[in-house]
Amino acid sequence: MAERLRLGVNIDHVATVRNARGGAAPDPVRAAQLAVAAGADGITAHLREDRRHIRDADMERLARELTRPLNFEMGATEEMIALAERLKPHAACLVPEKREERTTEGGLDVVGQRDQLVPKIARLKAAGCRVSLFIEPDEAPIAMAAELGAPVVELHTGSWCEALTHGETDAAEAQFARLARGAAHAAALGLEVHAGHGLDFDSARRLAGVPEFVEFNIGHFLIGEAIFTGLDAAIGRMRAAMDEGRGL
Ligand code: PXP
Repeated sequence: MAERLRLGVNIDHVATVRNARGGAAPDPVRAAQLAVAAGADGITAHLREDRRHIRDADMERLARELTRPLNFEMGATEEMIALAERLKPHAACLVPEKREERTTEGGLDVVGQRDQLVPKIARLKAAGCRVSLFIEPDEAPIAMAAELGAPVVELHTGSWCEALTHGETDAAEAQFARLARGAAHAAALGLEVHAGHGLDFDSARRLAGVPEFVEFNIGHFLIGEAIFTGLDAAIGRMRAAMDEGRGL
């Protein structure tokens, strides 16, 4: 029987709405607790260098108050590594923060950044974090992630989702095949395979059919959908879509 996919809910954009007015509402930690109650298997939050959505105090509260695993998305900067060492989230997902840290498509340039990443990954692992690298679904970065000793890769679904959004059917099929190939390659190297960026009900349902994926991290679409149906219903529908795609 196929394994159920885990759903990580990214609550960054609750903080985007809060910050639009500079007050305390809506509270992203309350959204995280609601997401957990609605069946999220984990919560993801990205503390960006410019603090455009999640702030340090949010991260502190998430680390302290959540009853499900926290996935701390972060640039591989000294400031963020030190914070992860202190907060000890369940997982630390390294993402590109600056232009020069990313590949043309948008994943972390693990090949170009190899030497800088080695000591940072070692520090995160020493802090007890499960390290995940957010990379493009291509052979070279996947092989490098395995060489770097990261237990998890999160494959960037942005190019696929963008092609779908623009109705570029052939390009979307090519990107889907690239993701499926990447997932198989990563799993064959012993990596746990996650996916994220730009997923919605339909894309998550389809991608769930690729058996190597273990977890999806989904934010913007769910928070947007929550405006219309509430977070609880949006998460319930996403869970159902992922289960259906997996044949459960
Ligand atoms: N995974 C990673 C590594 C991300 O950086 C993001 C946010 O860009 C997501 C997942 C969630 O993407 P989205 O908000 O488009 O669902």
